[in-house]
Amino acid sequence: MLSATSDAVTLDRVRAVCQPLLDSAGFIPGADADERYCTDWSRARGQPLAVLRPRNTEEVSRLLTVLHALRQPVVLQGGMTGLTGACVPQAGEVVLSLERLRDIEEIDPVSGTVTVQAGVSLQALHQAVEAQGLLFPVDIGSRGSCQIGGIIANNAGGNRVLRYGMTRQSVLGLEVVLADGTVISRMGKVLKDNAGYDLKHVFIGSEGSLGVITRALLALQPLPVSRQSALVAVEGFDAVTALLTQCRKRLGPRLSSFEVMWRDFFDISTGLLKKGRPGLNLAGSHVVLVEAMGIDPEQDDAQFAETLGTYQDTHAGCEVILAQSLADAQAIWSIREAAGEAANAIAPCAGFDVSLPMARMATWAHDVHVELRAMGLTQTQTYGHLGDGNLHLLVGGTGDPVVKAAVDELVHRSIGEVGGSISGEHGVGLSKKAHLHYCRSAAEINMMKLMKTSLDPHGILNRGRIFDLP
Ligand code: LAC
Ligand code: ZN
Repeated sequence: MLSATSDAVTLDRVRAVCQPLLDSAGFIPGADADERYCTDWSRARGQPLAVLRPRNTEEVSRLLTVLHALRQPVVLQGGMTGLTGACVPQAGEVVLSLERLRDIEEIDPVSGTVTVQAGVSLQALHQAVEAQGLLFPVDIGSRGSCQIGGIIANNAGGNRVLRYGMTRQSVLGLEVVLADGTVISRMGKVLKDNAGYDLKHVFIGSEGSLGVITRALLALQPLPVSRQSALVAVEGFDAVTALLTQCRKRLGPRLSSFEVMWRDFFDISTGLLKKGRPGLNLAGSHVVLVEAMGIDPEQDDAQFAETLGTYQDTHAGCEVILAQSLADAQAIWSIREAAGEAANAIAPCAGFDVSLPMARMATWAHDVHVELRAMGLTQTQTYGHLGDGNLHLLVGGTGDPVVKAAVDELVHRSIGEVGGSISGEHGVGLSKKAHLHYCRSAAEINMMKLMKTSLDPHGILNRGRIFDLP
């Protein structure tokens, strides 16, 4: 009972310094915390010591000042849609939730920017800027729940990276609170700014380990007025890369999504999960969701149809289904966006988010599947953002930790060998840190640790995520 007693003492200490800084809804003892603070989409679960719910940068700063003095470990939380377990409370951690920082402060159509607080959901942001004819281009399946702060902290990728880049490309400014409460604010609307180090990039993709993002200045794009979507079924991976090359050449920058589903994923989504609509039971080894966006509806439709038509004429056995309506486009996307449900269908499973050079993709994916089958593992799902070389692989039948460890090892070691990354877009968190060395050198990991210890000397922020420190 020693640890329960010491937890109670720690909780009293945290309460004494934090509660006076917050309103009545700002402090929740761990025992009263809602389940949403205990688990994320990785399904891992933990119990927080307490939950802190500040409303603005100043409150976050005051909280961290006192928590830093106590050397109290803190885990940061947004929409809890992460897949690496990074936001699940570990023993003795206090949750700092950004969920009440929900203000869309300013949409500036002249600068093409939006100023937001960290807890705004991606979908709320999309809707607000679209109402003004603007687009925030980052889009991911968890849009209804995920929050801007988390998206930036993880440098989210998603469905439109090949056109608009990862989240990093859309961040113009950040306000961040350091572990000791210091506020770093650089929210000026200047595009060109080379006055010393560009500090925001240190925090983008840092998985909450270097500071707490509380506000952001984001770049917006003109809202496209035309959108064309299609499913293209092809035989063999060479046909996939040929299609990508063709789409890049003919559609140029209008090509916004190139999502590839291997047979194993497409069958579960359209079969077991009944996604899409009748008539979409396509043949072929791969089904590609191609999407383009533009500003000239009539010409864009014709150009898109012609691009895929030409491809079809020169690739025997290829099938093309063009979306004729918004409902069609939604049906097509529902097949791809069933990823979460499809994962549940084979749970417990091992999930991967690798990224590798396109030229190595076909052979790597084939070899891994062969090795998995040799281990008796046949329940797989393979899909990804192939325009970016980012592949998701799920392997069922891995409930036994020994089997899961062997699969993790197989996938991550081999991805290192082909010059890839163990994380294309989801981050490292807790679940992938043991294999960081497969894609980062000792010198790189050492530099990361130097950054961590200089910005967070007591290691209170998201401790033990990405890597361990002594
Ligand atoms: C997706 C998530 C898993 O691409 O990243 O569906
Ligand atoms: Zn993805």
